[in-house]
Amino acid sequence: MSLLLSEIAVAVIRLAEAGVESPRADAELLAAHRHGVQRSQLHLVPDADFDPKFWDDVARREAREPLQHITGVAYFRYLDLEVGPGVFVPRPETEVMTGWAIDQLNEMDVAEPVVVDLGTGSGAIALAIAQEVPRARVHAVEGDPLATPWTERNIARCASAAPHTAGRVALHSADFDVALAELDGIVDLVISNPPYIPVDAQLPPEVSEYEPSAALYSGSDGLGAIRVVERAARRLLRPGGKVAVEHGSPQGAQVYWVFAEETGWQQTRNHSDLAGLDRFVTATWP
Ligand SMILES: C[S@@+](CC[C@H](N)C(=O)[O-])C[C@H]1O[C@@H](n2cnc3c(N)ncnc32)[C@H](O)[C@@H]1O
Repeated sequence: MSLLLSEIAVAVIRLAEAGVESPRADAELLAAHRHGVQRSQLHLVPDADFDPKFWDDVARREAREPLQHITGVAYFRYLDLEVGPGVFVPRPETEVMTGWAIDQLNEMDVAEPVVVDLGTGSGAIALAIAQEVPRARVHAVEGDPLATPWTERNIARCASAAPHTAGRVALHSADFDVALAELDGIVDLVISNPPYIPVDAQLPPEVSEYEPSAALYSGSDGLGAIRVVERAARRLLRPGGKVAVEHGSPQGAQVYWVFAEETGWQQTRNHSDLAGLDRFVTATWP
């Protein structure tokens, strides 16, 4: 066995003992990042190239710092995004909702669909839509001044990797409730992964100690920001426009009623994520 593979085996044990959920994947991804290779190429790293700084990275992960803060990169659909302190690390469950939005936009008979991403964070949803629906004009709204430098960096990074996105994503520093009044009634699709965790929830240290609290918590039932997104979507959407909102897996029934017929919405649907958990609601403005 190569030196690197035997060091990884020790790191797996240390990470498991520290309570890391996926110790093998994390140890291998840290080693791949530190040695500048793919995970599938770890066995090819010569013993002489072993970098002892790998153990600094393992110690940070052992202290439950998120993997993506250590590597500086998060993967989302076909993008790699810069992340770190001050910005929410995008999650795989959000990729499914974004895929739903991309399908809807590709089916819309609109030359240049106008999209609003409420609470853009790293820009994950907005940039994935710009990359995969090249006709779209995407407005990314973010209220946290610590997050927006990351959004700006990712917009620039994406424009250089995928030049067709250049000039297609505009960042707006604003609160959901008042953002983009100039687009009232003309938006084709509103999408949001808002904060939706009840304030007293118990979370793993990777989340509670490292993710920005503005990205996580929303009142005692976790639904405060979702209600604001509903009001904003009602204001922004054109007739026939669509909304997609992510929520916590136990909140599906409650969020369904936030977008109920009684408040004017049509075709309200619950959707699952890849794990089969209730994860987002979509609806159409009549
Ligand atoms: C859960 S994060 C989602 C980030 C990104 N869309 C993603 O899916 O990875 C929610 C984001 O919404 C922002 N946010 C929360 N409340 C807001 C509000 N009222 N107005 C504007 N942004 C808000 C937070 O700062 C955070 O960046």
